[in-house]
Amino acid sequence: MIVKVCTGKTCSSRFSPYILKRILAEKAKYDTKNKSTIEECGCQGSCKTGPVIVIDGTLTDRMDPIKASNLYLERLKKKS
Ligand code: FES
Repeated sequence: MIVKVCTGKTCSSRFSPYILKRILAEKAKYDTKNKSTIEECGCQGSCKTGPVIVIDGTLTDRMDPIKASNLYLERLKKKS
């Protein structure tokens, strides 16, 4: 599973670095089998509804750190 967190200008101004930090912390805690890759990405063209994350090519908008980590953990669970 590849998780991209937009750290473009608009999403960053809406605290996407905290989303990234939180997902990385969840990965360290729960992804013991290393089934996910977390990376930053540039603007995805959905700034108006950012912050956004992209999981395996599917974009989800209006994220906050809690929503994003719940979504990540839900997807991680499905992978195991
Ligand atoms: S800066 Fe994140 S979608 Fe544009």
